[in-house]
Order: sequence, then structure tokens, then C-alpha cells
Amino acid sequence: MRLILNSPLDMHLHLRDGDMLKNVAKFSAKDFAGALIMPNLLPPITDIKSLLAYKKRIFEAVREENFTPHMTLFFKSDYTADFLEKAKPYIAAIKLYPNGVTTNSEGGIEQIDTKRLSPVFEAMSELDIPLCVHGETNGFVMDREREFCAIYEQLAASFPKLTIIMEHITTKECVKLLEKHENLHATITLHHLLITLDDVMGGLLNPHLFCKPIAKRYEDKEALLEAALNAHKKVMFGSDSAPHLVSKKECCGCAAGIFSAPIALSALAELFEKHGKLTNLQTFVSDNARDIYKLIPINKPIVLEKKEWIVPAKFDDVVPMFASQTLKWKVKSRLN
Ligand code: DOR
Ligand code: ZN
Repeated sequence: MRLILNSPLDMHLHLRDGDMLKNVAKFSAKDFAGALIMPNLLPPITDIKSLLAYKKRIFEAVREENFTPHMTLFFKSDYTADFLEKAKPYIAAIKLYPNGVTTNSEGGIEQIDTKRLSPVFEAMSELDIPLCVHGETNGFVMDREREFCAIYEQLAASFPKLTIIMEHITTKECVKLLEKHENLHATITLHHLLITLDDVMGGLLNPHLFCKPIAKRYEDKEALLEAALNAHKKVMFGSDSAPHLVSKKECCGCAAGIFSAPIALSALAELFEKHGKLTNLQTFVSDNARDIYKLIPINKPIVLEKKEWIVPAKFDDVVPMFASQTLKWKVKSRLN
């Protein structure tokens, strides 16, 4: 049995830099036609020169693979309309991090005050630059995303022409918001479709499933599944594949992030098949992103075959999701 996915897209990806970039970029570049590249490097990407230099390093890391990195800037409150107009040809979106809520988000926004930030949001609306948001407050960990819904609503209502993407949503409340505001969209990760907090820490603590936002309750996972499996037009796949060295995961002070890039398509195919929704995977993993981001991906059909394989325990010094476990679908090759 075979499945062909036409130009899959990963609309939320951490490729890192240096040796890590060289180790991980090939996995996304092999299986996907393109990806939205997160800007939370150290220091973050906030100017065109470093963005283009980073893009060049990504191309060097993916070598001969045909793969489009869709670049993003790290949101700053002092971006001017003039700067944004210059940046527009080089970026697919701008990513807003509240200060300190996740890995390398220092330098993010202290307070999302829609009035104070309105010149940037107005300029982005005018230029049709999408705003991607890491939507968490600094409240109690299980409530952070739900508390952030009020900010999403305020943003959506105040800037109706701004395309807003709620990144890696984890709660049923965020799924509901999609119906309420036309300009709200969302990415959903593989891991949030598969795990709840129980998998992270209900038994023995599993640092490799620790991520931000933390996986939530069963009913939240069900709401995400309902949207993704039925190819809801406003949701798209974004892996949030976020590699960290094993020494940064298996330690006291474990870094947040799940490395899912090498297994993302295989596990998605298995999940969609299990629910009898395999025919909707194309929409979730490519078509919706094209519509939301108004992008035309390179033509890259990816063939998966129903064939068991064992996921390696590590890729260099990074442990992937499903390490040492068997998956039912394998990415075979590209057609062209
Ligand atoms: O788990 C996460 N890891 N969530 C994020 O938002 C950032 C990411 C990272 O960069 O490691
Ligand atoms: Zn992320």
C-alpha cells in the first residue's frame, strides 16, 4: 500500500544553527517541500542581514535536497513600517514570543499591549505579513494557553485584516476560537495529537516528551484531533520539531522541545489511517497552509509505503520522538 503526499509543508520548525543545523536539517528537507523556520536563535533573527545569512546556512545544510525554508523574523515592538516593507520580500511571517515563556524567547514582548504595539500590527496588516504567536501567559502551567485566549481575541478583533496564526495549539478553547474570528488560524503539532500530560509525567518522567506548551488533557487532545483529522480549513501541520542535545534533555533543568522531524510524516500517516482519515492528510499537511499563507510550494511528491521500520534510538546526539519504536509507514522516496 502506498500513499503519495503532494508537497508536504511543516509550518513550524526549529532548525537551530551550527552543528545541530547540519545534523537535523536533512530530515525535514528530505520529507517536506518547505517549512516555516522559527527565528529563536541566540541572538534571535531580527534583521534582514542575519535572516539572509541564516537562510544561506540552511541551504548549505540541506545540500542537494529541493526544499524551501520560509523565513521568519522575531517580533520586536520597534519594527517600523519602512523596515517591514523592506523585509516583506524575504519573510513569510513574523513570530511573536512573550518574553521568557519558552526556549530562547528572552527579548520577546513583556506585555502584549495591542494599543502600544498597534503601529507594528497595522503595518503588518497593510503589508499582508502573517503574525505567528506563541500563545502562553506566565501563569500556572496548565492554564497558560487558555489564559492567552483573551489576548488572541483582542488581537483578532483589533486587527481584522491581520492574518494571525495561533502556534502549536493544545487546548479545546483555542480550537473553539477558530470559529469566532475569521482571521485566526492555527498550527497543530504531531505530539499534541498523540500525547497528554500523562505521557509526559503520569508514570515515569519522560523528558523527551517535555515541550512548551505542555501537553494537556484528554479532552483537549480530542478537540485537536477532531480539527486535524477532519481537515478543518483553518488548521495546518506545524511539527514544532525542536531538537536539543541528549545532555540538555536527560538532566536536571530539561530543555523544552520534542524532536519529531524524522518521523513526522510516518507517524501522521499512521494516526490518520488509524482514524480512517488518510484521505484528509494531504489537506492538513499541505493544502491548508497554501491557502492560509498564500504560497505555492515546489512540486515535490513524497511517497510513503506501508512498511514497518524501527526508529533509531538517536540521530547523533539527539533523541527523536518514537525512538527505538516501530512505525507502520515509511517515507520511501520522492517521485521526482
Ligand atoms: O517545546 C518547545 N521548544 N516549545 C517552544 O515553543 C520552543 C521550542 C524550542 O525552541 O526548543
Ligand atoms: Zn516552536
